[in-house]
Amino acid sequence: MIVILLGPPGVGKGTQGVILCERTGLRHLSTGDLLRRARREGTPLGKEAQGYMDRGELVPDSVIIGMVREALATASGPGVVFDGFPRTVAQAEALDQVLGELGRDVGRVMVLRADDEVLVKRLAGRRSCTECGAVFNVHFNPPAQENVCDRCASQLTHRADDNPETVRNRLEVYRELTEPLIAFYEDAGAPVRYIEGDQPVDDVQQALAAALDDDS
Ligand code: AP5
Repeated sequence: MIVILLGPPGVGKGTQGVILCERTGLRHLSTGDLLRRARREGTPLGKEAQGYMDRGELVPDSVIIGMVREALATASGPGVVFDGFPRTVAQAEALDQVLGELGRDVGRVMVLRADDEVLVKRLAGRRSCTECGAVFNVHFNPPAQENVCDRCASQLTHRADDNPETVRNRLEVYRELTEPLIAFYEDAGAPVRYIEGDQPVDDVQQALAAALDDDS
């Protein structure tokens, strides 16, 4: 099963993607996480991506498509949950081509939705562990000890691109370049499902599970 999680910054794609994959055995493939790892490791890819990410702009399609192709070449198991990919029509077309070569197609497009004020508050409150990747929120899911990861006791950080100005830009970029993918997939006859993202994490996960089971 190939699942695409589509939605604006802060809607919960990462949070839900991790849980969904733990539950189903699908592989979680987040292009944002791959880029942040490349930045931490100081690779040429990470250096190229840095400026775009800090400004809240998209990293060029050619870079992203190459990165996803490479990640898929080593993929095994029952399928993949894409988180933050595709983000442009060019990326969606490239994904169709790669899946075609593998004899697969998109099983579900899950569109997560929430109002901008909810997204802005979530991103302002997000704290992430750079060591193990766990994600917390000072408003909705605080760590037991301030700024310390519950899972591995490392220091938590506020993502550099979660500042108000960059968040505004990321939301604009989402509306302009990524939201049109909903029509792209609907026009292509792909199974698109809409999920209310502004509800408790477990309820969102339940809605995703129901949408996965719904073959209509
Ligand atoms: P990326 O890392 O993909 O960021 P994003 O899409 O902006 O999404 P976020 O990670 O901000 O939010 P999320 O939806 O995953 O929410 P989360 O679960 O963390 O991309 C970053 C940058 O990389 C891009 O700007 C771009 O530069 C580049 N990039 C990445 N992919 C690219 C691509 N394909 N093409 C080009 N460039 C690319 O939740 C957010 C917060 O809310 C957390 O604190 C969480 O605890 C909390 N929360 C989650 N769910 C709930 C809930 N139900 N109730 C209360 N709080 C909740």
